[in-house]
Amino acid sequence: MTETIATKMVPASPDTIREAAATLAAGGLVAFPTETVYGLGADATNDRAVAGLFAAKGRPTFNPLISHVLDIEAARKLAQFGETAQHLAAAFWPGPLTLVLPKSARCPVAELATAGLNSIAIRVPRHPVARALLTEFGKPIVAPSANRSGHVSPTTAQHVLSDLAGRIDLIIDGGPTAVGVESTIVACLDGEITMLRPGGISRDEIAAVLGQPISDAPTIAENDEAPLAPGMLASHYAPRARLRLHASRLEPQEALLAFGSATLPGTKPSAVLNLSERGDLIEAAANLFAHLRALDAQASTIAVMPIPHEGIGEAINDRLTRAAAPRI
Ligand code: TXA
Ligand code: MG
Repeated sequence: MTETIATKMVPASPDTIREAAATLAAGGLVAFPTETVYGLGADATNDRAVAGLFAAKGRPTFNPLISHVLDIEAARKLAQFGETAQHLAAAFWPGPLTLVLPKSARCPVAELATAGLNSIAIRVPRHPVARALLTEFGKPIVAPSANRSGHVSPTTAQHVLSDLAGRIDLIIDGGPTAVGVESTIVACLDGEITMLRPGGISRDEIAAVLGQPISDAPTIAENDEAPLAPGMLASHYAPRARLRLHASRLEPQEALLAFGSATLPGTKPSAVLNLSERGDLIEAAANLFAHLRALDAQASTIAVMPIPHEGIGEAINDRLTRAAAPRI
């Protein structure tokens, strides 16, 4: 059990970013906005801080963390970049792409943060508050999404507070995040390029840079070792309510998570939120987690209208499928 600590929530400013960097340096935990979702940051090189982060989230320690750095130069101190990894970094950093690469020989990141793997996940965020914090702190910051393990990821400071109050030191409020789903994770290991998690950068954008399609990593079932992205458990992003996907009509007492301007036949829903009236997938991704949280507080079943699979729609469908999966 983590002892209860006073969690402070402050607006982003040069002063609060200095305070946040000092908190990290003292081994504390700071939630901060990135362009995808809010992250829960700790000093990546401090074993005790990293252990505290796992405890605060209730995260199993076999599930490794992403190290956040300012640029590719800083990333080179942590990992080995092949030619493809360099191309991808040049195309998408700063931005919502995480690369899983072979760890460098003198990687300063705590062993616990990489769960003992010989690979490391690295991301260069583009959100100005995340970048200001990385600049001020001057070292890599490990940051999983700032939710309790298994919960819906936070896209506002208020979401972080409701999940982690009493467990972390500081939350920097930088407003709602723009992308709304987590980064795309691509592994460049053993000469193979595979997608571990769909996210803010679409499969097509990556394929365009690679000059060929990108395939998925083997799933947990196909891989008898530890899963490649150990965080990609089937049941994740779990709201309390049951989710019914691809709904074409409404059953009694259901809330509706809508997409587009069409209406569904059947019973009148108990509550409705629309991911994007005009059918815009980028807007839908930005609204996804906040709408799920809001409907979860109001109904025990949420009917979800079909979402097209193209572009960032792949990441939206991935998160919805996990949210709908039976709980283990
Ligand atoms: O957008 C994002 O990526 C957000 C923001 C805060 O940066 N972070 C995030 O972190 O989503 P998290 O911890 O919720 O998800 C990280 C995923 C997990 O599924 C984890 O298993 C995987 O990255 N991962 C980390 N290191 C890995 C490694 N060496 N090999 C394979 N997967 C790894
Ligand atoms: Mg997460």
